[in-house]
Amino acid sequence: METPDFVFKGIQNSPEHVKTAWQSPSNIAIVKYWGKIGDQIPANASLSLTLDACHTRTEVGYRKRESGEKQQINFFFEGKEAPEFGQKSFSFIQKIRGFQPFLQDYHLTIKTENSFPHSSGIASSASGMSALALCFMSLENELAGGYDDDFFFRKASFLARIGSGSASRSIYGKTAVWGEHHDFIQSSNLYAVPHRENVHPVFDSFNDVILLIHEGSKSVSSTAGHAALNHHPFAESRYREAGVNMGLLKNILTAGDVAAFGELAEREALMLHALMMAGPQPFILMKPNTLAVITAVQEFRKQTQTPVYFTLDAGANVHILFPDEVREKVLNFIEGELVVYCENKQYICDRVGNGPVKQQL
Ligand code: PMV
Repeated sequence: METPDFVFKGIQNSPEHVKTAWQSPSNIAIVKYWGKIGDQIPANASLSLTLDACHTRTEVGYRKRESGEKQQINFFFEGKEAPEFGQKSFSFIQKIRGFQPFLQDYHLTIKTENSFPHSSGIASSASGMSALALCFMSLENELAGGYDDDFFFRKASFLARIGSGSASRSIYGKTAVWGEHHDFIQSSNLYAVPHRENVHPVFDSFNDVILLIHEGSKSVSSTAGHAALNHHPFAESRYREAGVNMGLLKNILTAGDVAAFGELAEREALMLHALMMAGPQPFILMKPNTLAVITAVQEFRKQTQTPVYFTLDAGANVHILFPDEVREKVLNFIEGELVVYCENKQYICDRVGNGPVKQQL
């Protein structure tokens, strides 16, 4: 499908009041998206595991606007009015107005909460933007008189991508791909697609324990990080390498090769941070404890032959990846050796999840 296919086609119903709510998860990329072309088109394809415990719950109330009335958008974060957070939703609504013009016809009350601590350094944009896009799609679904699931979720992913690239992947459970890649037949730069066929069951129950190394906001935003790739000496080789890794990962997922999966995840994570450090305006998002954890994980793996690996987002936190069969052993290792590196000893036990859930109201 192309961009014009996502323009809203016409109103069947015109309700005065509607309320919609979705819970949508975060995700962790194994092959990373880092660098974009134009408006939210990824410079390379990426593949992520959809998480479960880390999610955002968003509820949107729509009230028909009288002609001449200025549109009101009220935003509540964790029960409190939060206009500063609302700004992101507001600019998102502006960006998608060509695809959902009817949003302008309503006053909106947006209530949102995260399952993870706000200052944890966990990127909330993937779960937040996907939850909001799904809420807007539920309204659209009502106005349009009903869509099939394929189109509903594809357009939700298309809209979420406009809010935050990685959010496009949170629309689908387990594993999702965003960005065109010849090995993933249905893949698109405009929306994510689920990647479920030929994935070994070991990855359906994979664990991701997120060690919270550094609370507070990052010194350099993802937006600035993506932009740095526009004038980066290694951009082209990075995009090539990401393409190669996508092909490798597809085969690894089919084979259920946990060691190859973990090694690829670690290489991708380190390459992401190496790009940050080798750009025109270098920056470092890792903290000393990030490196301490990485070293400890690699050492533990070597000593005990346990399949435990790490990956990183664009931040200091470390995601510890491992299959279910070694869960107890790895949780003991984390409790015994890694919590000392976490801020306030905080970590979140997450795992692969089934994707967003519509909320009953
Ligand atoms: O979706 P953004 O613009 O926040 O970028 C996300 C970038 C990474 O998290 C570092 C990688 C990824 O693919 O999720």
